[in-house]
Amino acid sequence: MLPLEEDYKLALTTVKCDVKDLALADRGKLRVEYAAQEMPVLALIEERFRKEKPLAGIRIVACLHITSETANLAITLKAGGAEVYLCASNPLSTQDDSAAHLVVHHNIPTFAIKGEDNNTYYNHINSALDARPHITMDDGADTVSVIHKERPDLADGIIGGTEETTTGVIRLRSMEREGVLLYPIVAVNDADTKHLFDNRYGTGQSTVDGMIRATNRLIAGKNFVVAGYGWCGRGVAMRAKGLGANVIVTEVNPTKAIEAVMDGFMVMPMADAAKIGDFFCTLTGDMHVIRPEHFKVMKDGAVVANSGHFDIELDLRGLADISQEKRTVRDFVDEYTLSSGQRVYILGEGRLVNLAAAEGHPSGVMDMSFANQALASEWMVKNGESLQRKVYSVPEEQDKRVAELKLKSMGVDIDVLTPEQQEYLNSWTLGT
Ligand SMILES: NC(=O)c1ccc[n+]([C@@H]2O[C@H](COP(=O)([O-])OP(=O)(O)OC[C@H]3O[C@@H](n4cnc5c(N)ncnc54)[C@H](O)[C@@H]3O)[C@@H](O)[C@H]2O)c1
Repeated sequence: MLPLEEDYKLALTTVKCDVKDLALADRGKLRVEYAAQEMPVLALIEERFRKEKPLAGIRIVACLHITSETANLAITLKAGGAEVYLCASNPLSTQDDSAAHLVVHHNIPTFAIKGEDNNTYYNHINSALDARPHITMDDGADTVSVIHKERPDLADGIIGGTEETTTGVIRLRSMEREGVLLYPIVAVNDADTKHLFDNRYGTGQSTVDGMIRATNRLIAGKNFVVAGYGWCGRGVAMRAKGLGANVIVTEVNPTKAIEAVMDGFMVMPMADAAKIGDFFCTLTGDMHVIRPEHFKVMKDGAVVANSGHFDIELDLRGLADISQEKRTVRDFVDEYTLSSGQRVYILGEGRLVNLAAAEGHPSGVMDMSFANQALASEWMVKNGESLQRKVYSVPEEQDKRVAELKLKSMGVDIDVLTPEQQEYLNSWTLGT
C-alpha cells in the first residue's frame, strides 16, 4: 500500500470529489470496516459480485446518506464492476470521515460535506450526475427530481433507478400516475426486508438515539409525542416507551390510530398533545405537522425534532415569526424564545434527527436495506430493457432470499414445510 500522504496525492489528482477533509480518511476506514462486521448479507453479495461482475461497465449515481453503511454499499457495487459516484441525500447526514475514506482508499468520486448549504447540496448532485449514470439510486428521489426538472437529456442513457425511502416512493408513484416518469424505478423501500426493519427498528433506535445525544435529557417519566404511526412512528413509539416515556401518538389515518390505541398509546390531536408533551418527533412524510399554533401552547423547554425525510414537517419559518430570539445552545439544539418568554428547542434544524444528531440506522439493519439495493441494481441491469416507465416492487424471490441470508447470519433456524403441509396449504378441497 502507498504511504498515506501518497494516497492523498493520488486521490487529489485522479478522483473527482468535494469532501470536507481527505485527512479524515483513516478514521473513516476504521469506521467503515467496523460497520461491515454487522453487514454479513451485503458481504456475501460483495463476494459474489467480485467474481461475477454483474455491474461491469455500469455507472451508478447514488444519492444516499453518506454513512459508513453506505460506504459498504458503494464498495460492494464497485466490486460488482460498477463505476460509482456518490452524493448526499441530505445536507446534514454526511459522515465526513466515511466520505474521505471512499475517495482516498477506494477511488470513489464523492460529493458530500456535512452541513453543506442548499446550493452546494444541489451542486453536489449535479457533479455526480455529470457522470451520466446508467442507474440512479435515491433516498428521497432528489436525483430523479433534478433529472426530470433540469437535465431530462440524461434520461436516455438511464436503464433505471432505485428508491430507498417512503417519501421518495410516494413521489415516484405520483410521477408514474401523471405519466411523467422517464425511466423505471425499483421501490426498494417497499421490500419487506427493508421497511419492516429499517423503518421500524432502525428509525426507532436511531431517532431516539439522536434526540438523546443532542439533548442529554432524561426520557423516563416524560410525555413523548410521536406524530405519525407508520413504520417509523411505530419504531420510535416502541423505543420511547422502552425508556419509560408516556407515549402519545397523533395520526390522521383512523386505522393506524386504532392500532396505536391497541398498542397501548394515548391518541389525540396535535392541538391537545402540544400542551402536554415534553418531547415531540414527527415521522409523517407530511408538511407542517407542528405549526405556530402548536408551538405557542407548548411547555417551556419542550424539545421538538423531525425524523421524516424532508425538513418540512415542522413549520420553522412560522416558529421564527413568533419568536423574539434564536440561539444555538448545544450542537444540533436551537433555542427559540417566543414573545411570551417560553422556550422551544429544535433539534438538527428540523432535519432527520437520527442522521443529523446521531449516526443514522445501525449497520445490522442497513445490511438488509443495502443488500436489497445491490440486488435491485443487478436486477435492473438484467431486466432494464424489458421494463416500462413504472415503479416496480422488489421481486418476491429477492426479498425472501435476503431474509433467509439474514436469518442464517443470525444463527437462527426455522421449520420447513412438510410435503403434507405444502399440499394442505395449496389445496382448497381439504377440510375437517
Ligand atoms: N429517519 C430516517 O432515517 C427514516 C427512515 C425511513 C423512512 N423515513 C421517512 O419517514 C417518514 C415516514 O415513513 P414511514 O415509512 O413511517 O411512512 P408511513 O407511510 O408508514 O407512515 C406515515 C404515517 O404518518 C401519518 N400522517 C400523515 N400526515 C400526518 C399528520 N399530519 N399528522 C399525523 N400523522 C400523519 C400517516 O397516516 C401514516 O400513518 C417518510 O418521510 C420516510 O421517507 C425516515
